[in-house]
Amino acid sequence: MVRVAQMTDGDLPLVVALEKECGLNSRGVDGYRKILPDQNAILLVAIEDGEDRCIVGMFSGSVVVDEMQIDNLAVNERYRRMRIGQMLLASALSSAARLGAVVATLEVRSANLPARAFYEKEGFALVGFRKRYYAAPSDDALLLTREIQIKS
Ligand SMILES: CC(C)(COP(=O)(O)OP(=O)(O)OC[C@H]1O[C@@H](n2cnc3c(N)ncnc32)[C@H](O)[C@@H]1OP(=O)(O)O)[C@@H](O)C(=O)NCCC(=O)NCCS
Repeated sequence: MVRVAQMTDGDLPLVVALEKECGLNSRGVDGYRKILPDQNAILLVAIEDGEDRCIVGMFSGSVVVDEMQIDNLAVNERYRRMRIGQMLLASALSSAARLGAVVATLEVRSANLPARAFYEKEGFALVGFRKRYYAAPSDDALLLTREIQIKS
């Protein structure tokens, strides 16, 4: 069974390795260590229960005033299309709502069709475009956003 938990210091090497495997920019172990204590940082892992803490997914983002900025979301290739991305995002949106966020935003590579399909399914809409925002390989960024519903 896969469950979502708060990211811990011990998870950081595997989180950074997963980001790199997925071709995402990473803030690195030291960068994560700095933001782990930040109350407005939303740092989650998806763990497959077993003897070891096996990290199969990660989410990083932060809330500034009423907006959650999503930095990275990644699921191990062997675990994709099992709703783990959806689980991580749902948990992050709940945490963001508790911190006062009413909107979530992110940038995604225009060539990243799986991620675009995922975010579209999750209710994100295109609101902007940044030409050649990414390097190696060069790509445009699409700016996506969605409201966060606050459950009463
Ligand atoms: C994007 C990503 C996180 C999705 O994670 P996931 O756990 O596989 O996604 P889910 O199983 O929760 O997918 C939910 C829905 O999103 C859509 N979706 C997800 N991956 C898709 C794909 N490759 N192609 C088309 N639709 C897709 C589908 O509608 C899916 O529902 P379905 O499987 O019932 O059709 C994963 O593909 C990934 O880690 N990619 C590499 C890292 C990355 O690009 N991150 C995003 C940039 S921050």
